[in-house]
Amino acid sequence: MNKKAGWLLLAATIAATPSFSQVKEKVSKVDVVVNKSTMDVFVDNLIKHMTIEEKIGQLNLVTPGGAVTGSVVSGDVDNKIKRGEVGGLFGITGAEKIRKAQEIAVNNSRLKIPLIFGLDVIHGHRTIFPIPLGISCSWDMPMIEKSAQIAAKEATADGLAWVFSPMVDICRDPRWGRISEGSGEDPYLGSQIARAMVKGYQGNDLAAKNTVIACVKHYALYGAAEGGRDYNTVDMSRIQMFQDYMPPYKAAVDAGVGSVMSSFNVIDGVPATVNKWLLTDLLRKDWKFKGLVVTDYTAVNETIDHGMGNLQEVSALSLKAGVDMDMVGEGFLTTLKKSLNEGKVTVKQIEDACRRVLEAKFKLGLFEDPYRYCDPSRAGDIFNADNRAAARDFATRSAVLLKNGNNVLPLKKSGTIALVGPLADNHLNMLGTWSVSGDFVNNVSVLQGMQNVGGSNVNIIHAKGANISDDTAFAKRVNAFMNEIDIDKRSAQEMLDEAVTAAQKADVVVAVLGESANMSGESSSLSNIDLQPSQKRLLDALKKTGKPVVIVLMNGRPMTISEENAKADAILDVWFSGTEAGNAIADLLFGDRVPSGKLTASFPVNVGQIPVYYNHKNTGRPYVKGGPAKFKSNYLDIPNEPLFEFGYGLSYTTFNYSPVKLSSTSMTKTGNITASVTVTNSGNYDGEEVVQLYIRDMVGSVSRPVKELKGFQKILLKKGENKEVTFTINEEMLKFFNSDLKYVSEPGDFKVFIGPSSATTNEAGFILK
Ligand code: BGC
Repeated sequence: MNKKAGWLLLAATIAATPSFSQVKEKVSKVDVVVNKSTMDVFVDNLIKHMTIEEKIGQLNLVTPGGAVTGSVVSGDVDNKIKRGEVGGLFGITGAEKIRKAQEIAVNNSRLKIPLIFGLDVIHGHRTIFPIPLGISCSWDMPMIEKSAQIAAKEATADGLAWVFSPMVDICRDPRWGRISEGSGEDPYLGSQIARAMVKGYQGNDLAAKNTVIACVKHYALYGAAEGGRDYNTVDMSRIQMFQDYMPPYKAAVDAGVGSVMSSFNVIDGVPATVNKWLLTDLLRKDWKFKGLVVTDYTAVNETIDHGMGNLQEVSALSLKAGVDMDMVGEGFLTTLKKSLNEGKVTVKQIEDACRRVLEAKFKLGLFEDPYRYCDPSRAGDIFNADNRAAARDFATRSAVLLKNGNNVLPLKKSGTIALVGPLADNHLNMLGTWSVSGDFVNNVSVLQGMQNVGGSNVNIIHAKGANISDDTAFAKRVNAFMNEIDIDKRSAQEMLDEAVTAAQKADVVVAVLGESANMSGESSSLSNIDLQPSQKRLLDALKKTGKPVVIVLMNGRPMTISEENAKADAILDVWFSGTEAGNAIADLLFGDRVPSGKLTASFPVNVGQIPVYYNHKNTGRPYVKGGPAKFKSNYLDIPNEPLFEFGYGLSYTTFNYSPVKLSSTSMTKTGNITASVTVTNSGNYDGEEVVQLYIRDMVGSVSRPVKELKGFQKILLKKGENKEVTFTINEEMLKFFNSDLKYVSEPGDFKVFIGPSSATTNEAGFILK
C-alpha cells in the first residue's frame, strides 16, 4: 500500500468530506497501519465504514445495455451508482465513456469506491482472433498466451479491467453452439489452454496498466448439457466430473485466475449458482480459490425456474453457496437486506462477498487510481498494425487441413480461380460468435485476402452461389444480433448459375461454405449440424463441372460433413478466423503458410454418433476396427470412428514417425521413464507438426479410457529434416480418480502412444511397479 492509496482510504473512512488538513493530520496515523499491512487492512478499514446497503451494493454487477444475452437490462444505473448500489459495470467500452461512469462513482457516491468494468473479451477485443475452438487447434501455448495478452492490452486501453474469459467448458457434443467458445473435448489440452489464457490476461501484476482480471467460466460442467441443448440439465458421475470436466477450471484456479463465473446448469440437481458444494467446498476449500465468484447473466434469478424458491430465497441461497457478485439480476440488491433482517443470511456472509469484490478492485490498483484504465493516450494500443499482424499469424496456425486430395492445395499464384460461396466475400461473418467489440466492416474477406496474396497473375472470379441458408424462419432466429444470414434478392437458381459459369471458366474452384457467425455460440444449439441445403446444392453443382473443388469451411463447431468430404478434393477448416481472416486463409491457400492445426474436437460421421470423443472407455464388447458387427458396442449402420478424430490435421508436407522407444519397460512411482520417437519431414515443404503423446492404463480399479492425451510438442521441421522428440513420463501422468475420488496411480501395465493424432497405433508398453 502506498501513500496515495492511504489517502484514498482516508477519504473513504472519514464520513464527512474531509478537509485537506484533516486528511494530512490523519494520514500519518493511518500510514503506520497501512504500510505495515496488506490489502486486508485496507479492505477491513473500508468495510468498517460501509453501511449494509453499501456492502450489498458492491455485490451488484449491472449492464446499462450492449451485452445482453438475457431478457433483462439494468435500469437507472447512474442513480444506483450514486447511491452506492453498484459494484461493477459491464457492456460499455471506451476510455472516455468508462471514465465518465467512474466519475459518477468517485465523485458522487458517499464512499467514492471505484467501479470495476468488465466485458466479454473472448477471442480478442477490438482485434479479433480465431474463435476459441479454432485457436485451440493451434496447440500452440505461447501463441494462445500472446493472444490473451494482446486482448488484455486492447481491453485496458479501452477502459476495461476485467474479462469474462477463458471459457474452458469441455464439450463432447457439437450440437451445443457454445462448443465454439471453448477448447474442445480434452481435459489435458483444455487445462494447458486455460493456464495460457490466464497467464496472458493477468500477466504477473494485476495492477499493471495492460493486464486484466480473467474470469474462468462457466463453472462448472456447462459443456455437458443434455442433448447439446443450451442451458439444459447436466448429470454425470463424480468420477467423470473430476476426470474429464473439472481439470481446466482447476488449472485456471491453479494459475491464479482472479475470478470464476458460475454456470447456468444444475450439478447433481443443484444449479451451479446456488451450489455450495461447488462454489465453496470444492472451489474455495479444496482448490483454495481466493478470488471473486460472479454469476452468469441473471443466473440467480434463473434458479427460480429451476425450482429453488422465490427471488429472496434464491438470492440468499446463492450468497450462502459462495457467490460474491450477482450479474444483472439484482436479486442481491433487492432482497439481501430483508434476508439479513429475517436472519436468513448473516452480516459476515455479506461482508465476505463484499470483501472479495473490494479485493479485486484493490488488486487492479483501482483504489490507487480509479482511472487507471481510462487513458485516451493509449488509443494506439487498439486495433493497430501489430495486433492485426498477430491476428493473421494466429489464424494461419489455427486452421486445420482436413483433406488434400491430389495435393490440390496449395494453389498456384496464376491461372483462374472461381471463388464462390456465401462466405467468400462476407464481412459480417468473419469474426465469429462473441466478438462484441470487433469491427464488422474493417476485416478482411476471403476475396480481399486472395486478391492481396494472390498477386496480379491470378484471375479470381467471384460469385456468391448460394445463401448461407434459404430458410427464412431459421435465418430470422439466427439473425438476432445482425443480418448475418442475408437472403439474396436473386433466386437460388440465378445464384447457382452464376457460380457454375464462374467454375467452368476456372482451373480450380474455392468454395467458402459453412455456418454464419452466430449459428454457433450462446443459445445456438442445433439438432442438425449438416451444411445448409442451399450450400449442399451449390457444392453438387460445382462438383458437376468436373473442376477440382476446395472447400474453405467456416464453422463454430464440428459439422457433419461426410458427404462434402466425399465430394470435395480438399477441405481447409478455418473456423471463424477473425479480423484478418481473408489474408490468413489466402496465405494458407497459396502456400505462403503451411497448415499445422490439429482438431481439438471430433467430427462425427452423423449426429446419431454423438457423443463421439477419443478418450472413451472400452466396454465389454469393444468395437472391432474395420466396421460394425453384431453383438459389439457399435451402430450397425456406421463405424464407431468419427469422420475426423481428435488430434487430426494434415499439412502440405508429410511426417513419418519412427516406432516409440522407451528408456525402460518398467517404472517406479518415484521414478520416471522417457518415451521418444524420431519424426521426419518426408515431404516437400517446411512444416510444423504437433507430436502427441497418449497413455492407456490397461488395468485399473475403475475402467480406464482407451487413450488419454498426456503431452504434446509442436515442432518445426524443414523438409528432409528429422528430430527426436522425447517425453518424460512420471507418476503424475498415470493418476486418475478412483471410486473414492482419490487421485491415484495404480501399478500395472500401461501403453504409450506417440503419433500425429488420437488414432495413432504407434505404441509401446511399460509396467508401473
Ligand atoms: C454468458 C456468459 C457471458 C455473460 C455476460 C451470459 O449469457 O453465458 O458467457 O459472460 O452472458 O455477457
